[in-house]
Amino acid sequence: MASVSLRKLEKSYGALRIVKGIDLEIQDGEFVVFVGPSGCGKSTTLRMIAGLETISDGEIRIGERAVNKLAPRERDIAMVFQDYALYPHKTVRENMGFSLKVRGVSMKDAESRITEAAEMLGIGHLLDRRPGQLSGGQRQRVAMGRAIVRRPQVFLFDEPLSNLDAKLRGQVRTEIKRLHQQIGTTIIYVTHDQVEAMTLADRIVILRGGDIEQVGTPDEVYNHPQSVFVGGFVGSPAMNFAKAKVQDGALAFANGDRIPLSALAAGKQRVEDGREVIVGIRPEHFVTLADPVMTLTAKVQVVEPLGSDTLVHFSIGGETLTARMPPEMRPEVGADLHLGLDPTKVHLFDAATERVIA
Ligand SMILES: Nc1ncnc2c1ncn2[C@@H]1O[C@H](COP(=O)(O)OP(=O)(O)OP(=O)(O)O)[C@@H](O)[C@H]1O
Ligand SMILES: [Mg+2]
Repeated sequence: MASVSLRKLEKSYGALRIVKGIDLEIQDGEFVVFVGPSGCGKSTTLRMIAGLETISDGEIRIGERAVNKLAPRERDIAMVFQDYALYPHKTVRENMGFSLKVRGVSMKDAESRITEAAEMLGIGHLLDRRPGQLSGGQRQRVAMGRAIVRRPQVFLFDEPLSNLDAKLRGQVRTEIKRLHQQIGTTIIYVTHDQVEAMTLADRIVILRGGDIEQVGTPDEVYNHPQSVFVGGFVGSPAMNFAKAKVQDGALAFANGDRIPLSALAAGKQRVEDGREVIVGIRPEHFVTLADPVMTLTAKVQVVEPLGSDTLVHFSIGGETLTARMPPEMRPEVGADLHLGLDPTKVHLFDAATERVIA
């Protein structure tokens, strides 16, 4: 196990700056998840840590060692990719043991590591099969097993579950969490999946255009996004945004609805008159209380029953918003709906800088 530190890490391809000076300290044993839009540099960063990509500037340390100049195999890291690339003609046992053989681990030691890892992943009965005789989820577990047997200092995962169907994703996700609890190795994990990020991470790193936008625990980034970008990126369905102006001590929306500042959480109550703001509201913070503190006048556009709850898409003053409502809620399309709102849960951002107003 080891800590990982990225110091002013840079990557350029010619004149194109892809990773723009990332600073990040990852603790020994920590589970860190990278999220961010496609092309923001997640895989590039992971590949630089693994040594599969040169770095343009800055430093990478694993434990006490600066590893900039070390070859991938000297870094004591194991990487699991989305396309797990197993050897098709080798058995599961041979696939898992191959890297140990190359590294000169004794047969006996290798065998016991393989058995232990296979046990942990529930693939002990599949050791004599070839990849072609396995399901997608089983193959993914073999790929993880292959990484585990190496007992590296750090695991790097690049969207390891994205080839799996929803049910398997859920299962393997839980296995990865259990695995981390058992062996406690430092993990850096890239995903597009909100649930994976929220459930697996000790800390989530939100990347945007090659820079870190925010780092925090799942709770911090979900409940205290520092920018419109983070608010909109973390959470599904996404946070709603509506423009408003502060007028006479209230947030005034384009449709005439108002929320008095005094109803907001402390800290947001002293925004000066005339300021243009972006109001952020999570879909679950609309309520259907008989006598809500606040109501917004909404025109229902689309209703999506999900079984566990109902998503209601509606417009207020030309902007489309989404509310997560109880499953029995089935408002009619086109109807005017009075939506309750918990004003203490509202987020406020400056309209110009898109940074939080706290
Ligand atoms: N060899 C290369 N030459 C030039 N540009 C590259 C090269 N490899 C990657 N890029 C660019 O670097 C940027 C970051 O790529 P990267 O693969 O790290 O993105 P990502 O965050 O992993 O995206 P995704 O979520 O789609 O996997 C992209 O704009 C990509 O086009
Ligand atoms: Mg990628």
